[in-house]
Amino acid sequence: MASAPVILANAEIRDEFIADGMQRLRRGASAGDVAESIACAVEDDPDEHTVGYSGWPNILGEVELDASFMDGATLRAGAVAALKGFRHPISVARQVMLRLPHVLLAGEGAARFAIEIGAERRDMLSPEAQAAWQQRIAAVVEDEEDDAITLTVRALRERRGSDTMNVIVRDAAGNICSAVSTSGIAWKYPGRVGDSPIIGAGNYCDNRYGAATCMGLGEAAMRIGAAVQAVMLMRLGWSLEAAGCEVVRQLSELLGESTAENHMSRADWVRILVMDAAGNVGAFATRLGLRYKVQTADDSYPLTREVVCPA
Ligand code: GLY
Repeated sequence: MASAPVILANAEIRDEFIADGMQRLRRGASAGDVAESIACAVEDDPDEHTVGYSGWPNILGEVELDASFMDGATLRAGAVAALKGFRHPISVARQVMLRLPHVLLAGEGAARFAIEIGAERRDMLSPEAQAAWQQRIAAVVEDEEDDAITLTVRALRERRGSDTMNVIVRDAAGNICSAVSTSGIAWKYPGRVGDSPIIGAGNYCDNRYGAATCMGLGEAAMRIGAAVQAVMLMRLGWSLEAAGCEVVRQLSELLGESTAENHMSRADWVRILVMDAAGNVGAFATRLGLRYKVQTADDSYPLTREVVCPA
């Protein structure tokens, strides 16, 4: 059955990556192929410091990447966590879905799988990201004898960037795929895994009801299963707007309890992108001023819109 293709993405993704994806959808490409190609373009973008190459490293100066991919037609999913040294974590995640009887591979196992499938290796630490780490973290480590726990907690006070790559694509056949890729929180503890590779927390997709992906403080999205909640509320008959607002209210409540003890600050936020089964879209966040992009088959370029921040 013919349906209208649509791409929903976070506002930080370059217009041309989304427009190129729409061009491919118009020519009949699948939602999965387009979601992966947009994610790969963002992973290669050296100006994007929270995704792929040039992502901010962990507290030890190593870039550890998380990614997930979900196919709304089959509910199959694949993900990698804390993957080091490969150019396209999203492609490795998709191959986990396609080739293994598993959903999530982490650390050394994810790297082993990446080697076995011939994934391209790359040193993901850019000179700019290394310099930032050197200046903010390495210099301090040399002066003091703090352990990684102390350093990570201290570094979180100057948390920077949570611009996870989120893309939800619906193709002309009505199939929906969602892809999420990130380097996670800057200066994180080694092995820290956020919401992005956790199916149900940072990514969920079901053709019958819709899809949702998250950006921002992963620890909050994980604690309420944000993405699957939004989709399940739509399954129960809630509108896209009502579902997005309800999930954000819960996230705001959680973030409102910010204290030094639970390591959350009032500067933390979460944004959730939501698409329903018919291809209607929206985005919701715990603070104002965040934006997202949407492109339909009728648009030459993506349109940028403001998120809804429910009272
Ligand atoms: N939302 C991305 C992360 O927290 O890692």
